[in-house]
Formats: sequence, C-alpha cells, structure tokens
Amino acid sequence: MKADVQKYVSSIGITLDRFISQRQSDFPYAKGELSQLLRDIGLAAKVVNKAIMNSGLIGIEGPAGYQNSSGEEQQKLDVVANVRFIRALTRGGEVCAVISEEEEEMIDTGNRHAKYVVAIDPLDGSSNIDVNMPLGTIFSIYRRKTPVGTPPTLEDVLQKGTEQVAAGYVIYGSSNMLVYTTGHGVNGFTYDFSIGEYILSHPNMQSKENGNIFSYNEGNLYDFPKGIQDFIEYCRRNKFSARYVGALVADFHRNLLKGGIFLYPPTKKAPQGKLRLMFECNALAFLIEQAGGVATDGKQRILEIQPTELHQRCPLIIGSKTMVEKVLQMLEAHQETVAL
Ligand code: AHG
Ligand code: MN
Ligand code: MN
Repeated sequence: MKADVQKYVSSIGITLDRFISQRQSDFPYAKGELSQLLRDIGLAAKVVNKAIMNSGLIGIEGPAGYQNSSGEEQQKLDVVANVRFIRALTRGGEVCAVISEEEEEMIDTGNRHAKYVVAIDPLDGSSNIDVNMPLGTIFSIYRRKTPVGTPPTLEDVLQKGTEQVAAGYVIYGSSNMLVYTTGHGVNGFTYDFSIGEYILSHPNMQSKENGNIFSYNEGNLYDFPKGIQDFIEYCRRNKFSARYVGALVADFHRNLLKGGIFLYPPTKKAPQGKLRLMFECNALAFLIEQAGGVATDGKQRILEIQPTELHQRCPLIIGSKTMVEKVLQMLEAHQETVAL
C-alpha cells in the first residue's frame, strides 16, 4: 500500500468484541458463554451511556420517588440503568441469576441452563447525576454453585470475591470506558461513539506500587479509627494530593491510572462502612489485585470476606500497594482493625 493511503487506513485498534473472542482461549473449559456475557454487558453499557448523555434533554435527571433496599433515594437514572443491565443479562441467556444494588432480592432470570450469576451496581455515584459529574457501573461475574437446569439459590450469589471469574466497571466520564479482568490482567477500552465500539486503549493496566493521591470523604474524618486519621495526617504532611469525586468508580479509576489510595472506613453513621461488598468492593478488589495493588477492609483481604447477605457493607481501603500497607501499619500501631 502506498504511504499516503496507509496513513488514512491505519488500524483503529482492536474492538472489545474481537478482544474478548481472542481471549476465549484463556478459558479452555468454557464454551464461549462468558465471552457472550461480557459482550452483553458492553452492549448495555452503550445503552446506559446514551441515556446518561441525553439525560438533561429527555428529562431523566432527578429522583425517581422510591428508595432502594439500602434506604437510599433512587434517581431516575438508577432505575433506567438497573432495567437496562438486567434486561441485557436476562435476554442474553448466559446468566441464571442477577443481584443488584437496586433490587431487594435476587432476580431469577429463568435461564435455567445458564452457568453464570452477576452482581451489579448499575449506576455508581448517583449523587453526581444532576451535576454533570462522572458516574459508573460495577459488575462481578461468578460461576453458579447449584447444578445447571435447577432454579438458582442464594448459595449461587453469596460467594466470596475470590470466586469471581470476571469483574469490571464502566466509567461514564469525559470519555466512556469499560475496564475488565478475567484474572489474566486488566484491560481498558474507550468508547468510540462514531463507530459505536469500545476500542482497546489501556492494555495491561498496572497499579503504581506507590502513589501520592488520597481519596476519602473529609467530612467523616473525626469518625475514623485513629490509625486512619494518622495516615491522613501523614498524607497531608507529605503534601499528597487530596482528590474525591464522590463516585467510587471515578476515584478508583484515577488512582489506578495515577497511583493513589481510596478509603471508605467505618463512620458513626455507617459503622460497617458505606460501600457494598457484593456490588462495589469485590469487583474493584479483583481488578486492583490483578493490577498489582491491594484491597482490604483493614483486617483481611476484601476478596476473602464470606458474604452472608446480599446488601452487606464493608470498609474499603484500596489502591497502590505501598500506601495500603502504610495504612495497615498505622492501624496496627493503634492495635486497631477497621473491620468490626
Ligand atoms: P451509589 O451511587 O451506587 O449508591 O454509590 C455511592 C457511593 C460511592 O460511589 C462513593 O464513593 C460513595 O458513595 C460516596 O459516599 P459519601 O457521599 O458518603 O462520601
Ligand atoms: Mn455505588
Ligand atoms: Mn448505585
């Protein structure tokens, strides 16, 4: 090909669909269902991205007028995202049960022969909806425990994070990205709206061993255990940068790219922490470990916590390895563990 033509037809990069198909060989035992399931999530993410982009125009900002099972006010976009993801996962046919931050109970999709279950926070950071700030979606995929062909039970969905076969997030920010892992590293894809595809833009993402960004809700500082307060003081004395978006996905994404730590310790109002083990913490813990970082509740690896209820909360300290280890040392100096 002539050089002048070449420059107009250079590769745009690999699409999410093609990347997933090529990685099918990472799962010699799987028959392509997991790949299809990841594609279903990618499709729902595009639909939700469109709803978010147009929310101001089509009147779906603001509260929906209901509360979710954690007693938080649902926004209209929470409801839209929840419906879109559950519908994509149900109709895709690869999932027998879904649990969602926005649903009280486990949803039986009726796909009796499906092998997988999904836990999802359909819209993360909903307080950002009305103010044009970043939002996210967080998902975890597990293999079901009960035999294929039978109705799913709570045993299928109450699994430890170590059992995840894939997890990821979508960030609806200044660009729209999908980041996921299947336990073979972390890869990030940026949405090219002109062709309607996610394109690999961040291959093999690595968490910096150390960092200088710290993210937590300043208003809660005096509720935190002493060891955490010491760590915050240490960050300030070292003139680290404080950054807090109020959407976990966005805070996590920035710290993953730049090196940093996110903390949501217990507070008086939320004695077990605010974030949800099944819908938020497990997926991000799997991703950060795959990228070389650490995720703990202050006492144990997030991934090793045995869940006992769907909407269980846990403290979260997650990010660059050296920073998280420093927090653990400071907790230990006060003989504290964050987890109750
Ligand atoms: P969600 O919108 O899914 O309920 O999650 C909100 C979470 C998380 O995204 C964020 O990090 C945290 O709440 C912020 O909490 P505070 O407002 O208490 O800081
Ligand atoms: Mn959330
Ligand atoms: Mn949410």
